[in-house]
Amino acid sequence: MNILITGMAGFIGHAVAKRLAADGHTIVGIDNLNDYYDVALKQARLDDLAAYPNVRFECIDLADQAAMQALFAGERFERVIHLAAQAGVRYSLDNPHVYAQSNLVGHLNVLEGCRQQQVPHLVYASSSSVYGQNAHVPFSTADAVDHPISLYAATKKSNELMTHSYAHLYDIPSTGLRFFTVYGPWGRPDMAMFKFTRAILAGEPLPIFNHGELSRDFTYIDDIVEGVVRIQDVIPQADAERQATAPDQSAAPFALYNIGHGSPVALMDFVRALERVTGRTAQCDYQPMQPGDVPRTWADTEALFEAVDYRPAVGVEEGVARFVDWYRAFYQV
Ligand SMILES: NC(=O)c1ccc[n+]([C@@H]2O[C@H](COP(=O)([O-])OP(=O)(O)OC[C@H]3O[C@@H](n4cnc5c(N)ncnc54)[C@H](O)[C@@H]3O)[C@@H](O)[C@H]2O)c1
Repeated sequence: MNILITGMAGFIGHAVAKRLAADGHTIVGIDNLNDYYDVALKQARLDDLAAYPNVRFECIDLADQAAMQALFAGERFERVIHLAAQAGVRYSLDNPHVYAQSNLVGHLNVLEGCRQQQVPHLVYASSSSVYGQNAHVPFSTADAVDHPISLYAATKKSNELMTHSYAHLYDIPSTGLRFFTVYGPWGRPDMAMFKFTRAILAGEPLPIFNHGELSRDFTYIDDIVEGVVRIQDVIPQADAERQATAPDQSAAPFALYNIGHGSPVALMDFVRALERVTGRTAQCDYQPMQPGDVPRTWADTEALFEAVDYRPAVGVEEGVARFVDWYRAFYQV
């Protein structure tokens, strides 16, 4: 298939592109290579993909309406895997407008492109952050999520709403994936796994928010890739008889899934795993809860399992070891 991947220089985009390229698909990847974190890492991911002659990269900003129109006018895509976004909860407190541009205007431009050529399936990244302080665990796509506690989460929830309207109006089959704290090789420098590893290897303190009273459903990158690759072939169908009795139900060709490991890990257990893998003792710098952060995440993965017969499988101990191996080799430390 000819597949468009947005955010291909990003952590998840690179991993998904590599897998689909290895499977023999033709990949067109776009990214604006912004400097939210080290651009050299984004470039290194693209260099890693250069080994595949069936991968093409174009530097395009999602919010550039003319460039996005031209992209979709230029060729047909059998799948659109939309992963580009301004990520990060904390950054959204100080930089709200970039979230509006990349995540709202950008998402609209992707939807318009899909409408323009009636793309057979749009798969896009949402986030566990839409659950906010949801008290019901594990978090289910059937839960109402109307109370985001960060602008980042609000833009991700908005993406689901915008997509539903396009699925309904223009019959564009669409699947939203709520990713849960993804980590692993080629990961994001703004996330805990990366920051903690850098700090522990440098003998520096690890910033531990909410005094360590946090838990996350850490999900290994290969599990995310497997989920994305399988779900892209599960194309939601419109069904006029289907009643919208829950937030994830609709007559439109619209689906939502969690992709998480399905087992929350206490932040301090995560730190202990890192200590074991590195053979170092962490100096913990305990700090208060950060505004916009959620105390815990925990994915209900039943719907994903029913749809694709797959459950994320890599546990934290193994995942942390694989990440640290990659980190040491990549940064030669
Ligand atoms: N990593 C996680 O734990 C996680 C969790 C939940 C949701 N997500 C979502 O998954 C997707 C991928 O996340 P990631 O971890 O790979 O993040 P990432 O920041 O590594 O990748 C996103 C990529 O999108 C690009 N981008 C941002 N704004 C753009 C724009 N306006 N135009 C073109 N490109 C743009 C960035 O340069 C980056 O390379 C995002 O939508 C993110 O919100 C990630």
